[in-house]
Amino acid sequence: VARIEVGAGAGAYPVEVGRGLREEIPARLQELSGGAGCLVIADSNTAGLVGAYLAAALRARIHVVPAGERSKSFAELERAVEAALDAGLDRRGVIVAVGGGVVGDLAGVVAATYMRGVRLVHVPTTLLAMVDSAIGGKAAIDVPRAKNLVGAFKPPAVVFVDPDLLRTLPEREYRSGLAEVAKYSMISDEHLFDTLLAEAERVLHRELDLLTTVIERCCAIKAGVVTRDEHEAGERAILNYGHTVGHALEAATGYGPLTHGEAVAVGMTAAAEIGAAAGVTPAVVVERQGALLDALHLPRTAPGVATAGDVLALLAHDKKAAAGQPRWVLIEAVGRATWGHSVPVPVVEAAVAHALEAG
Ligand SMILES: NC(=O)c1ccc[n+]([C@@H]2O[C@H](COP(=O)([O-])OP(=O)(O)OC[C@H]3O[C@@H](n4cnc5c(N)ncnc54)[C@H](O)[C@@H]3O)[C@@H](O)[C@H]2O)c1
Ligand SMILES: [Zn+2]
Repeated sequence: VARIEVGAGAGAYPVEVGRGLREEIPARLQELSGGAGCLVIADSNTAGLVGAYLAAALRARIHVVPAGERSKSFAELERAVEAALDAGLDRRGVIVAVGGGVVGDLAGVVAATYMRGVRLVHVPTTLLAMVDSAIGGKAAIDVPRAKNLVGAFKPPAVVFVDPDLLRTLPEREYRSGLAEVAKYSMISDEHLFDTLLAEAERVLHRELDLLTTVIERCCAIKAGVVTRDEHEAGERAILNYGHTVGHALEAATGYGPLTHGEAVAVGMTAAAEIGAAAGVTPAVVVERQGALLDALHLPRTAPGVATAGDVLALLAHDKKAAAGQPRWVLIEAVGRATWGHSVPVPVVEAAVAHALEAG
């Protein structure tokens, strides 16, 4: 089992990655909770996979929410808090999130707020949650008008990553997570990039030993970035590579036709084109990234999903925009990203237009 430390000082926590780790979780949780209660939170898919097994082994209650983004709501927050009360959870209790980013985010808000805060343990079950949402200590729920509007920083006590849990993940969800994996390789790890490209077929087939090393690498990259930039002053921005156009595409399409990872893959392609036009990204790097996305069966464009006008309007309102223009994360070389770039509007317009055309 690999152990990756996130953060420094009192707030630090380990991410443990290993095949079969789920079998050790009940004993580890018992030790952690020291006899205080646990509440397992899962969704309607992950409850049957491991949630119920963990709850039974812990003699803990399980609270099941409907699968899907809609569970990141005030209504589900209230139901989960009532479940914690019903379970008799007190201040020493532990919330155990078993699921993807939706369960992790909802459970994180519960753990941050129930009795002004109880401990949180993540057992991520999607690739995205394993390499991204379970690490970094952010949690949020949505309101109808805005995603992730209400939340908290809630570092977990520990994250248990068992790659074997990915066996049952639907194919499209799996590939969505691979977009984040590809992103990590572009921003920070050329060796990972080479591995992904050379072993793309094995990655797509979910060869679990290979996947375990890939997941470890991604967790280490995210852990390193969030540890160095705890207060989001700078470097953490590189994690947003591909997400500027990606988020705008998701919002412009009402979060319907594209998965998050598909939107990010298209966004990475647009960012690479923007980087090339700005003289930051060499043409060969644009080509290599395209080859990796193809090899991982991720889209480079999303023909006709939205109008360029809608996407450009959303970019002007980007959270990280300055003077109506987003700041861009651009790639200088495979494995090296820089942030804070301003780019001429026509360059962005051209890249967005291409993103919405057939490749
Ligand atoms: N907190 C953060 O830092 C952070 C970072 C990135 C994303 N997020 C959030 O994460 C959410 C997306 O997370 P996600 O992509 O994991 O989606 P998700 O949690 O909705 O899971 C995707 C689907 O897969 C199912 N599933 C999960 N694990 C499974 C398994 N092992 N086998 C079979 N089915 C399984 C789920 O029930 C769901 O239907 C978004 O709400 C996003 O805002 C948060
Ligand atoms: Zn993402």
